[in-house]
Amino acid sequence: MAISLVTLFGGIIRRTLSAASLSSQTIAIDDETTIHFWSPKPTTTSSSTAKPPLLLIHGFGPHGVWQWQQQINFFAKSYSLYIPNLVFFGGSYSTSSERSEIFQARAMGKLMEKVGVEKYYVVGTSYGGFVAFRMAEMWQDRVMKVVIANSAVNGLLSDSMELVKRGKVEKIEDLIMPEKASELRKLMNLSVFRRAYVPDFILNDFINRLYSKNRKEKLELLRGLTIGWDDIMKASPLQQEVLIVWGEHDKIFLLDLAMELKKVLGKNVKLKVIKNASHIPQVENAWKFNNIIDTFLRDSPDQGLSLMSKL
Ligand SMILES: *[C@@H]1O[C@H](CO)[C@@H](O)[C@H](O)[C@H]1NC(C)=O
Ligand SMILES: *[C@@H]1O[C@H](CO)[C@@H](O)[C@H](O)[C@H]1NC(C)=O
Repeated sequence: MAISLVTLFGGIIRRTLSAASLSSQTIAIDDETTIHFWSPKPTTTSSSTAKPPLLLIHGFGPHGVWQWQQQINFFAKSYSLYIPNLVFFGGSYSTSSERSEIFQARAMGKLMEKVGVEKYYVVGTSYGGFVAFRMAEMWQDRVMKVVIANSAVNGLLSDSMELVKRGKVEKIEDLIMPEKASELRKLMNLSVFRRAYVPDFILNDFINRLYSKNRKEKLELLRGLTIGWDDIMKASPLQQEVLIVWGEHDKIFLLDLAMELKKVLGKNVKLKVIKNASHIPQVENAWKFNNIIDTFLRDSPDQGLSLMSKL
């Protein structure tokens, strides 16, 4: 292929990261697991430690910085940004046999410990929202506030089965882990509100370069979720302030689930619905998405001030 858009966009993302003074790092968080992530350059200590740390957790699909491309510049100005690749995405790997979202949450918690960040905000989208939810559940003191974006942590098996029907596929992985342009098209149909026509060769380039790595392990991650494979609701009230953000027309996780989730997660929960957007409002309407989250994180000055005084 003469031109690869993936390669082209990859270059743009790298320049965005560099302009935001983020650097690529890989560390072993324990004997089994290595995490690749982007974080403030170690040399920019005095300015970066004054900013509250913010962890952005991606969903299935292209890894880390690909999904947060339009958040990097915006949030790097006032937050100390950490953008990891979850285990088996991008350059992150593990020899562990664990595959649940709880395993991913523990890996992320260990990562933040390793880099010396005690308290932080977490934003997770889709699969990353499951991970963010588990982190908030496990570490009430470390996770100061949590944002769950287009992520049905209250989903049941019946919701997963309806998704398979909506997607007109046989198995959920045919949708979430496309191998062919036709499958990726189905996924885009459900996850993007305003779609432009994208030719097959571009979709195939996407699949080959961004979807195919560690396919076996990613399938295991999908099957290893403790959420959405039975009739038991796993979501329960969180102690932190929670913001749920959802694209109004999300056909992966329907808006009904967002409204139910607001009730399930406790008293300190806000729900913001983004119009004219589907499953990826962070891309579809980045301006709105970013401002909603920034406002939520800045809100309630008490918590912000106590954080600042500890730093
Ligand atoms: C995508 O959706 C449109 C209309 O909403 C439909 O006509 C088309 O067949 C769908 N494509 C796929 C691949 O599902
Ligand atoms: C949503 O899209 C419709 C149709 O393009 C437009 O009229 C409306 O203003 C949009 N709403 C928002 C909130 O962007």
